[in-house]
Amino acid sequence: PMAKVPLSRYEPDTSLEEVYERIRQNVAVVRKRLDRPLTLAEKILYGHLSNPETAELVRGKSYLHLHPDRVAMQDATAQMATLQFMSAGISRTQAPTTIHCDHLITAQSGAKEDLERAVQQNREVYDFLSTAAAKYGMGFWKPGSGIIHQIILENYAFPGGLMIGTDSHTPNAGGLGMAAIGVGGADAVDVMVGLPWELKAPRVIGVRLTGKLHDWTAPKDVILKVAGILTVKGGTGSIIEYFGPGVDSISCTGMGTICNMGAEIGATTSIFPYSKRMEAYLKATRRDAIAELANKYVDLLRADENAVYDRLIEINLSELEPHVNGPFTPDLAHPLSKLKDAVKQNDWPAEIRVSLIGSCTNSSYEDMMRAASVCKQAIDHGVKAKTIFHITPGSEQVRSTIERDGMIQLFEAIGGVVLANACGPCIGQWNRQDVPKGVKNTIITSYNRNFAQRNDGNPLTHAFMASPEIVTAFALSGRLDFNPVTDVLTDQSGKPFKLQSPSGDELPARGFDPGRDTFQAPPGDGSSVAVRIDPQSERLQQLEAFPAWNGKDIERAFILLKVKGKCTTDHISMAGPWLKYRGHLDNISNNLFIGAINAENGKANLVKNQLNGEYGPVPATARAYKQAGIPWVVVGDENYGEGSSREHAALEPRYLGGVAIIAKSFARIHETNLKKQGMLPLTFQDPADYDKIDPSDRVSILGLTKFRPDEPLTLRVEKADGSQLELKVNHSFNEAQIEWFRHGSALNKIRADLVA
Ligand code: F3S
Repeated sequence: PMAKVPLSRYEPDTSLEEVYERIRQNVAVVRKRLDRPLTLAEKILYGHLSNPETAELVRGKSYLHLHPDRVAMQDATAQMATLQFMSAGISRTQAPTTIHCDHLITAQSGAKEDLERAVQQNREVYDFLSTAAAKYGMGFWKPGSGIIHQIILENYAFPGGLMIGTDSHTPNAGGLGMAAIGVGGADAVDVMVGLPWELKAPRVIGVRLTGKLHDWTAPKDVILKVAGILTVKGGTGSIIEYFGPGVDSISCTGMGTICNMGAEIGATTSIFPYSKRMEAYLKATRRDAIAELANKYVDLLRADENAVYDRLIEINLSELEPHVNGPFTPDLAHPLSKLKDAVKQNDWPAEIRVSLIGSCTNSSYEDMMRAASVCKQAIDHGVKAKTIFHITPGSEQVRSTIERDGMIQLFEAIGGVVLANACGPCIGQWNRQDVPKGVKNTIITSYNRNFAQRNDGNPLTHAFMASPEIVTAFALSGRLDFNPVTDVLTDQSGKPFKLQSPSGDELPARGFDPGRDTFQAPPGDGSSVAVRIDPQSERLQQLEAFPAWNGKDIERAFILLKVKGKCTTDHISMAGPWLKYRGHLDNISNNLFIGAINAENGKANLVKNQLNGEYGPVPATARAYKQAGIPWVVVGDENYGEGSSREHAALEPRYLGGVAIIAKSFARIHETNLKKQGMLPLTFQDPADYDKIDPSDRVSILGLTKFRPDEPLTLRVEKADGSQLELKVNHSFNEAQIEWFRHGSALNKIRADLVA
């Protein structure tokens, strides 16, 4: 018999055969039920169903309950997720999990100094995450190891797998045929504690590729083109599934780039079928056994003939031009030949100030080698970059390999500065010195996002995006109205020269050099490890369990706020500067509802304190009610809680004494997050009842002693003049979720089950 193949070299106790066998069985069940050809996306998702016999399977409609194979978290989002996981009282994560230190490293002077500074500044966060990882059986990738999605591709992704990650670009692993989905911390906690994870069954958009990539055209251009076609909303609720004869001309890491940036069109994830290029990448990253096993299950790792897509797009790679997208939105697509005119027409600053290559999107060996081949031509002609030029390697392995193979030297020779193996300027961790804030300017990157302020906090920075080789060519010209395919540069003696098309190997001929060892494996038994949280910390705070339901109806709650109009998770729990408190529930709760508009006065963060009649900020008012022991509710408008899956938007109201949100309608993910924290998301049976409620009313929620699925509750509203009215409110709790409410939270329920 064959030796057991683990999911990764770091998880010897796992079994890939088991994963594939379960997919095979589930797919057989589902195939019989649906009796039609399946897309690859369906095979993988349905292959991970917890209930294949009974699950409703309507794309775009049903809710699937899934068991992902693994979880990945980056250091910003991992903090609250880990704190929540700890409060469930489980001794080890129930699914293989890794934590990656990449988001908190500020780019300033170069890799070495930047990393050292970050280690000092973030010591308490890194200490917490590394000790928690050790205690609970999670792999920990230290600062300097690289960017989460690159580390996943190099070490953990496998064809046919399903993973979730607490970062929007998790779909990068689609380059290795894995369905990898970006989620919020609450979802990660579900999987880590062993609960099934819920996902609305996505629609499937097929992208059929024909022809071949050639000359300057790179994988990046495929997604820049698709973004132009589908726009930033076009992928919402869908998986983008690539197929067709053109797939074979794209390297595994190139497919990763394409899947990575599917996040920019709102796609649930993107995926490619298993291919020879994936096999080559698995072997180059020392995973021959995984490749051999995948070869045996290849029928599960690609779509059936005649699989039906909800929408079909065709792209002929032979005709595809290099693209430059931007500014301010990733779907503003310009084929290179049209860019010059667009620059002129829109009066975008044509001088480029900074060119940046790398990031999780585009820092493969192939990317770096193609960019370096452009640098080499500059050096041969005696010229340097005309812009500041930054290079972000995606991992220590890539950095070390391109150093060994002489590419870093080429970057530096044209004036490039290599930054730490981390997110850096991609997430605004950039102490940019060359242009003051408020000055209009242009930069060009090989990253994936270019919204205003994303990179440097300057709303007037026009950020454009292209492949690394195109960005490098632009760095040499220094101008956005340049076309490397048709235009010339000037060499050191004043003679014109034209750049040749870039070239590069998909994989290093001499193999990868792993570089410094930056991985911390968890001990076999972590029970004696103490998790380090400094009680004085402003950034981290142990979570205390929320109180269980007291068994009674809710009597005479205050209305903290009646919201008018949009109330996204950003209105409920603002990001920006608050993110540094994301591991400290008490501190971050000082942003509660500060962005939401009070229906009473049209203002944000100004509500009447019903205890003393004075107007003040929402968080302070909530704290006053909590201290007085008076429960409160919030009244919301349509689609309350849309936006992101940010779990803080549910944790904070609960923490400050909220008991219910009563709205016209909810965004599903936030509604579930509220239930997980023991709150009551309720909807007006008649949406017009929203108008019957005044912020000074007091509300009682009746019927909780007989709380059951599909039975409405009653809202008794007492007006200031003493009059009363009763309204019906609906809820969407099922039996299991009602248990969460009774126990005070989903995690309380899990802890209670463990004790029992
Ligand atoms: Fe990091 Fe930017 Fe990727 S923030 S994970 S490099 S999208």
